[in-house]
Amino acid sequence: MDKDLAKLLEQLTLEEKAGLSSGLDFWCLKGVERLNIPSIMVADGPHGLRKQGRESDHVGLNESVKATCFPTASATASTWDEDLLYEMGVALGEECLQEDVAVILGPGANTKRSPLCGRNFEYISEDPYLTGRIGAALVNGIQSQGIGTSLKHFVSNNQEYRRMVIDTVVDERAFREIYLAGFENVIKEAQPWAVMCSYNRINGTFASDNKVILTDILKEEWRHTGLVMTDWGATNNRVKAIKAGMELEMPSSGGFNDRKIVEAVKSGELDEADLDKTVIRVLELIYKCQENKRENFTYDVDKHHQLARKIAGESAVLLKNDERILPLKDEKIVVIGTFANIPRYQGAGSSLINPTKLESALDELDRRGTKYVYEPGYSTTTDLVEVDLIEKAKNIAREAEVVLLYAGLTDDYESEGFDRTHLKMPTNQLKLIEAICEVNQNVVIVLQNGAPIEMPWLESVKAVLECYLGGQAGGPASIDVLYGNINPGGRLAETFPIKLEDDIVTKWFGMGPQSVEHRESIYVGYRYYDKVDKNVLFPFGYGLSYTEFEYSELSISHNKIKDVDQLEVSFNVKNTGNKFGSEVAQVYVKDIESTIFRPEKELKEFKKIYLEPEEEKSISMILDSRAFAYYNTMINDWHVESGEFEILVGSSSRDIHLNINVEVESTQDIESPNYILVAPEYYNLREANMDISTKSYEALLGRQVITNSPIRKGDFDINSTLKDISVTFIGDQLRKMVLNNVMKKMESDNEKQIKMMEAVVNDMPVRSMVLMGGGMINFEMADGLIDMVNGKFLKGLLKVIKHR
Ligand code: BGC
Repeated sequence: MDKDLAKLLEQLTLEEKAGLSSGLDFWCLKGVERLNIPSIMVADGPHGLRKQGRESDHVGLNESVKATCFPTASATASTWDEDLLYEMGVALGEECLQEDVAVILGPGANTKRSPLCGRNFEYISEDPYLTGRIGAALVNGIQSQGIGTSLKHFVSNNQEYRRMVIDTVVDERAFREIYLAGFENVIKEAQPWAVMCSYNRINGTFASDNKVILTDILKEEWRHTGLVMTDWGATNNRVKAIKAGMELEMPSSGGFNDRKIVEAVKSGELDEADLDKTVIRVLELIYKCQENKRENFTYDVDKHHQLARKIAGESAVLLKNDERILPLKDEKIVVIGTFANIPRYQGAGSSLINPTKLESALDELDRRGTKYVYEPGYSTTTDLVEVDLIEKAKNIAREAEVVLLYAGLTDDYESEGFDRTHLKMPTNQLKLIEAICEVNQNVVIVLQNGAPIEMPWLESVKAVLECYLGGQAGGPASIDVLYGNINPGGRLAETFPIKLEDDIVTKWFGMGPQSVEHRESIYVGYRYYDKVDKNVLFPFGYGLSYTEFEYSELSISHNKIKDVDQLEVSFNVKNTGNKFGSEVAQVYVKDIESTIFRPEKELKEFKKIYLEPEEEKSISMILDSRAFAYYNTMINDWHVESGEFEILVGSSSRDIHLNINVEVESTQDIESPNYILVAPEYYNLREANMDISTKSYEALLGRQVITNSPIRKGDFDINSTLKDISVTFIGDQLRKMVLNNVMKKMESDNEKQIKMMEAVVNDMPVRSMVLMGGGMINFEMADGLIDMVNGKFLKGLLKVIKHR
């Protein structure tokens, strides 16, 4: 960087420094005119650009400029294709260049703890290793264009319920192995220019002022050189946050927190040197972005649409294909399901993109001149069974050789702001599928949903193609796959359980109001199902192809290694079918015997390969010590225990084709923590029968857990949510007022977002009214309001009046 930032810093007043560490408005950072420091703009993310003009908001209520809507993360993760993700990143970067957006807010690297999280469509995987690789590829692609990324939401924002205040209670080992590891890889492999801290608390401390996470781990251990910004309105204590290593508060807090910084420096509470460090990182980002600006750059809208289509096609996962009903040839088809005509192609919330164009599956059939008859079969605005719609669909289905039935989840099933409560599809769709299967034996289900669903109809249908939320060209892409123009190469980045109750996490997911316990520890996704050998609907890593692959010749470079050595794993994969296709070769590692409890196996490497019929490729991969390690809380570091490990090569966590053992010798003369006596359930998970006792959990955590109790009048504080305080008359009026205000701001056709907005407002802490209220109320007034709802009406009212 040419700019002498140290010199620039010297010229800044204390007020200017404080100002630079928060936003100018909803999307821009402040500049300093007298010193020619420019203001730069950031915008959502993650699978397209959401640059807003007129009315700004953080939940996708108001329109943004047109941009390519790529498939969302649960889809793109299923490609397991880093090159493709890089390409998508380049395209996103180009769109930012054209729109003069300096940083795109994403990707989201939160581990999918449970399929219930409302925002899972925006997250990559239940597996941190896959998250890390896919996330890094996207970040590298975007940043190759001179556009920054803001990796989010750091960290442990695994549920939407009370996301702004909830305390994520997680043991250190699970935190490192499951929740931090994905972020760690992206930071180390791609150095995102920014990281966005999450709203929630982690083991008692808000992410925004969590020094352990932001400084000790992120900056010092992982050497992140970019800045940390808050999620929108996530600042808890601005001064503490600066000390903790959180540089940029977003959006603007109406100057309230800037003044707190100034006061704290003047009173000696905050060392100005700490503020300087903050400002330097902000300036570094501003100038990095400024240097990479490209005036008059335009991107090729059509090319990006085509890329979105290619990615959507590569994301689709073929879950079932009995009697090789797919690919279709020239069968007489009927198409049923509203989603074939009006696709569900993205999720609701801050990632809502205004697409450059939108094409449906029917558009593509028309373009191809394919003959078909279409019936909607269900409405997307109600779950109620509409008998006439079903009857009409049934009538056309009788005559068809193949029925293509488009189904999935409607907008109000999954969204930012709230979680799902079950994995069921809408009743009207379930009834429709049942009715169609009665009259036709050749039903192909094409799914559009952001996260796993239960499939009670699975046995009755011939094929299932999971398309996830495929972006603006997802419709045509589904036809590409159904007709074999693309041979399905998608593999699940998450487990599909048979039913929700099968998942150990379900019991503790969505807990509150104070804390959400992660009692399952490291047993998330396939790490749980494989440990207890429980049947699943479709396992992690799974997906069919129109061709077949054969694995052979597994070998390792050494039969015995030291933990500091690298191990080369080699094997062959051959396309034994008669179609060009891709395979994702997955390498898992199993610790055969260990002192510490471990998952049955864990993904440690993978490679996506494309093969012509009869073509064989030899693959070799390197495993290093991390592939064998677990996080040892006695030394606060990764540790490999001596002993036998198994290397498993397969095409899903349940389809292992080859295996070989290696002996690993530890060079660290240290002990492993052994919980067998104090927390036996973690070792005998199957016998534990999906229960982890408080005693065991506390032994693992190393402290007692606090029982969740209702938040009562008298106990409210600035972090109480509007829903919490609505048990009082004044609180309820306040909640209604905020909700009305938000509703008024919504542009006309956004009614379907009402459920989301209600959830967002309910879960909003009072402090957010200050930080996001555009100067409407200040901290003192908020304090007064808290007094009022706590029953000290007069005292509170006087405070409000005094500080108005
Ligand atoms: C979301 C972020 C988003 C931000 C800005 C927040 O509510 O959690 O993911 O980037 O708003 O829209």
